[in-house]
Amino acid sequence: MEMTIISDDMRDFIEGLPKAELHVHLEGTLGPETVLKLAARNGLDYPFKTVKDVENALNNRTVGLVSFLDLHYLFVSVIKTREDFYEVTYEFLRTCRENNVVYVEIKFDPQFHTERGISFYDMIQGIDEGRKDGYKDFGVEANLIMCINRERTVESAWEMMEQAYPYRHLITGLGLDSYEKDNPPSKYTEVYMKARKQGYRVTAHCDVDQEDSVEHIWECIDLLKTDRIDHGVNSIEDPELVKELIKRDITLTACPTWRSPYPEPRDLERIRKMYDMGLKVTLNTDDPAEFTSGYMNQTLIGAVEGSGYTKEDLLSFMRNAFEGSWLPQESKDRYIKALNDYAVSRIRRLH
Ligand code: HPA
Ligand code: ZN
Repeated sequence: MEMTIISDDMRDFIEGLPKAELHVHLEGTLGPETVLKLAARNGLDYPFKTVKDVENALNNRTVGLVSFLDLHYLFVSVIKTREDFYEVTYEFLRTCRENNVVYVEIKFDPQFHTERGISFYDMIQGIDEGRKDGYKDFGVEANLIMCINRERTVESAWEMMEQAYPYRHLITGLGLDSYEKDNPPSKYTEVYMKARKQGYRVTAHCDVDQEDSVEHIWECIDLLKTDRIDHGVNSIEDPELVKELIKRDITLTACPTWRSPYPEPRDLERIRKMYDMGLKVTLNTDDPAEFTSGYMNQTLIGAVEGSGYTKEDLLSFMRNAFEGSWLPQESKDRYIKALNDYAVSRIRRLH
């Protein structure tokens, strides 16, 4: 569809809309200034010296998961201390407030950090304190999802589960991310079974246009028994799979600005199809500082400009997000009531 420029009224509606985000990586929220600040503070001999250097590196990536992740981990390597985790989490929640995101589920990658000598304790304490102060100062509620880096060994995932065990009351969910090629969900069937027994909610990335994306989604729902799928855009290629995802009420966390400075029409079209087919799809930012596409307000503006969504559609996306979240039912009800109140107030204003 043709790109349209949205009206001031729609922009205003998006900005005021109470939002939930279910798919964002803490490590993907480091803007160029933060990357440089942490590199200097931690005394690193770092390849980038100026904001321009960081921006050039972002602009010179090729399209695709591997190129994205290679640079992503170079940025993330500036995080070293509990204080760093605290600051990054707290600052992200400030951004959530600015975007009227009232609830967020934040992913993070323990293995990448512990491998570099950071203790699980420092990492989780920093994140948890940042989250608590963020709630106090900005009123944004956050839950945490630790992700297995899928290219590592299964033993390393077990080790992560063990390190997390004393802190499991602070961590709501388990996810699976990073380099997908040759690392199918089935690699982690036993780990997921144990995680579910320990009380974690579970999700996994099935990134866009990977080898065997459709098969990977089947594995997630049949073997890992995930409550959600992260991305999962290729599901629309298999009608049986679509039927099954709907039947099992699986939420799919799509990211319309995925690895591109502007919503790729291709992905926007496929997300529109998911929505039209009746899949429970949500809109998310994934790695907002690295997609140069901004946070939730800008992501929704891009989705409306590219796909022509109405206010009703945006309300449905947000209802899907609150319903598909891992909040207790009474919290979901409270957030959805606030969303409905917002809808009513905006409709009144229109008449
Ligand atoms: N895909 C897989 N792993 C990731 C991503 C992503 O988009 N972002 C951070 N880790
Ligand atoms: Zn992701």
